[in-house]
Amino acid sequence: MELQDAINQRHSIRQFTDKPVEKKMITKIVELAQRAPSWVNSQPWQVYCAMGDTLQEIKNAYRDQDIAGNQGNSDLPVMSREDWAPQTQDNMKQWRHGIVHHFANFDEAHEKMTNASNTLYDSPVILYITIPKASPDWSIFDAGLFAENIMLAATAYGLGTIPTYNSVRFPAILHQTLDVPDDERFIVGISLGYSADTTINSYHSERRPVNEILHFN
Ligand SMILES: Cc1cc2nc3c(=O)[nH]c(=O)nc-3n(C[C@H](O)[C@H](O)[C@H](O)COP(=O)(O)O)c2cc1C
Repeated sequence: MELQDAINQRHSIRQFTDKPVEKKMITKIVELAQRAPSWVNSQPWQVYCAMGDTLQEIKNAYRDQDIAGNQGNSDLPVMSREDWAPQTQDNMKQWRHGIVHHFANFDEAHEKMTNASNTLYDSPVILYITIPKASPDWSIFDAGLFAENIMLAATAYGLGTIPTYNSVRFPAILHQTLDVPDDERFIVGISLGYSADTTINSYHSERRPVNEILHFN
């Protein structure tokens, strides 16, 4: 697959089939992603691959937290939407508007998105990316480059992905279930698997016209 095609085809998948993904393929994807650049080649990332019973345990524990009404407590802080810069708030509004209009009505969109979110998208795999707590902010940037490489490589292998805050809302559960040392923090979880043929997955979000974000001087 051409790089341009992988970039254009990658979009967030919020409903996966139960077809498993081979460990060999996951290993190849992560190995490719390791080519990402990082500050002085520090390669701050670790990847914890949750699948099978382990992933089900995480999904059950998250569900229990949601039922108990507990708020998420991600390692990277979440900023209130109102505090974001106006142009980013506009983009988020446009995304919400786009997804609602992709469905028959608001209620259907809300129901499908909530169900997908509550089940962690039913994906057969989540790749959890951590960095050491003893890291500069630059390592978060590096982890982002690594994460995008994972998603593009997965696209080239015919897999769907979604990076989510949702999957890293409860780090204590993840530390325990995945046996992750306390001196690491969770950056993002990437759900991985084969895309289900559903309305929710056929939504391709928009981007600003390039001349609004590219400034030649
Ligand atoms: C760091 C990060 C966290 C995200 N968290 C969530 C999430 O919790 N739930 C969700 O449905 N989508 C989540 N997304 C997916 C974004 O909504 C999505 O990338 C964006 O709308 C652009 O759409 P696209 O990925 O289909 O191009 C997240 C994306 C990123 C990069």
